[in-house]
Amino acid sequence: MKKRYTLEQKRWDSPREHAMPEHTRVPASFTIGNVKIAPATVLAPMAGVTDTVFRRFIKNASQFTAEVNAADVTEETTNQQSGCGLIMTEFTSADGLSRMRETKRKRYLTYYDDEHPISAQLFGSNPETLADSARIVQDAGFDLVDLNLGCPAKRVVACNGGSGLLKDLPQIERIFRAIRAAVTIPFTVKFRMGWNDKHIVCVDLARMAEDCGLNACALHARTREDGYTGQARWEYIAAVKDAVSIPVIGNGDIRTPEDAAAMVEATHCDAVMIGRTAPANPWIFRQIAQYTASKEATGVGTYDHPTDQDRYRMIRTYFQMLVDEIALEEAAEAARAEAIIASGQIAREQRHRDCVGKMKQFASWFTHGVPGGSTLRKQIFESKNGDTVLAAIERFFETRAENPPLAATESEPDEELLTAGAAYCD
Ligand SMILES: Cc1cc2nc3c(=O)[nH]c(=O)nc-3n(C[C@H](O)[C@H](O)[C@H](O)COP(=O)(O)O)c2cc1C
Repeated sequence: MKKRYTLEQKRWDSPREHAMPEHTRVPASFTIGNVKIAPATVLAPMAGVTDTVFRRFIKNASQFTAEVNAADVTEETTNQQSGCGLIMTEFTSADGLSRMRETKRKRYLTYYDDEHPISAQLFGSNPETLADSARIVQDAGFDLVDLNLGCPAKRVVACNGGSGLLKDLPQIERIFRAIRAAVTIPFTVKFRMGWNDKHIVCVDLARMAEDCGLNACALHARTREDGYTGQARWEYIAAVKDAVSIPVIGNGDIRTPEDAAAMVEATHCDAVMIGRTAPANPWIFRQIAQYTASKEATGVGTYDHPTDQDRYRMIRTYFQMLVDEIALEEAAEAARAEAIIASGQIAREQRHRDCVGKMKQFASWFTHGVPGGSTLRKQIFESKNGDTVLAAIERFFETRAENPPLAATESEPDEELLTAGAAYCD
C-alpha cells in the first residue's frame, strides 16, 4: 500500500558548515509591496507539512519554553515574537481551485488571524486559470500570492506546472502579466535556477518578474535536475540580487543561524527562507532572532537550544493543535447540509487516520537526535491510534526525567521528514 507521507529522500548531502560572519545579520525587516515582514525570515512552503496547524505551530514555537504555556500566548504576542516573519501555504493547484465548490476551496485556503502576514502559493500553467485563482486567494484575505516555478514532481511538470515552466519563459511572462492584472495584493514568484545546468534562467526570470510588476522573488538555488542533491549554489542568489531591485529571498540549505547570516553575507539577499530545518527544529526562527539580537548587543552571537522539556511540550502542543483542528473542522461540517452529514462517517474516519499519521510523522521528526529516540520512533510507528502515540511519548519522557541521559545531541532532520510531502516530489 502507498504510504501517505513517504516519497523520495530529500536530505542534505554532507552539509557545509558556515561560521557566523563578522558583521552581517539577517535583516530586521523587509517589505514586499505594501506588506512589512519582520524579521526577514520566511517559512518555505512544504506540501504535506505547512498546513494551518504547522504554520501556527511555527509561529508559536518560540513560546513553548518551560516558562510559557501555549495557552497563554495571545495572537499579538505570537505575531511580534515568533521570529518567523512570513508563512506560506503549501502549493495549491490553480486548476483545482478554480473548479472547486466554495466550501471545498475554503478548506484548502484555511488560515487563522494569527497567521498574518500569510502568502498563498499557486501552481499551474494556464494564465487565465492562474489569474482566476489569484483572485480567489485575494478575496480569501491572503496578504500575498505566490507562483510556484520550482516543483520538480513529474505529474506537475507533465502539465507544464512548477519547474516545467522554466523551459518556457514566454509562457511565464504571459502568466506573470495575467496574475498581475488580476490582483492588487503583492505578487511573488518562487523558482529554481533552471531546468538543468545547460539551461539556467534565474537571472532572466527575475528581471522578467520585475518588469511584469512582481513585488519579490525567492530562489531555491538548485536546478530541477539537481533535485535536492549537492549544495545549494548561493552564488546564483547573489547574481539574481545583483540583477533586480525588487526584494530577493534566498533559499537552500539553511540549517543554523550561522548559515542564515552566511547566506545574507554571501548573496546580500533581503530575506532568508527556511524549509527542511523547520519541522526538525521549529526553534530555528527564534534562534536566528536571538543570534542576531545578541550579536548586535554584545558582539557575540548566542542562542538557546531546546531542552527535553521544551521538546516534550512541543510534541504535546502540536498534537493538541491537530486534535483541536479536527474538532473545528467537524463543527463546521456538522453545520453544513444533510448530505455531507450522511457521508460524514467516512470523512471522520479518514480525518482521524490522517491525524494519527501526522502525529507519527511529527513525533519522529522532533525526536530525532534525542538519545534513545529510535526506540520511541519504533513504538510510535507501531501505534494504532492517537492515544497509544501519546502514551508512548509520556512513557518515554517520564523515563528520561527519572534517568536523564548523559548528553543530548542537536536535532537532525530525519529521513521521514525529508520524505514528507507526497504531493511535491515523485
Ligand atoms: C516535503 C517538502 C515539500 C515541499 N513542498 C513545496 C511546495 O509546496 N512549494 C514550494 O515552492 N516548494 C516546496 N518544497 C521546497 C521548499 O520550499 C524549499 O525550496 C526546499 O526544501 C529548499 O529549502 P531548504 O534547504 O531550506 O529545505 C518542498 C520541500 C520539501 C522538503
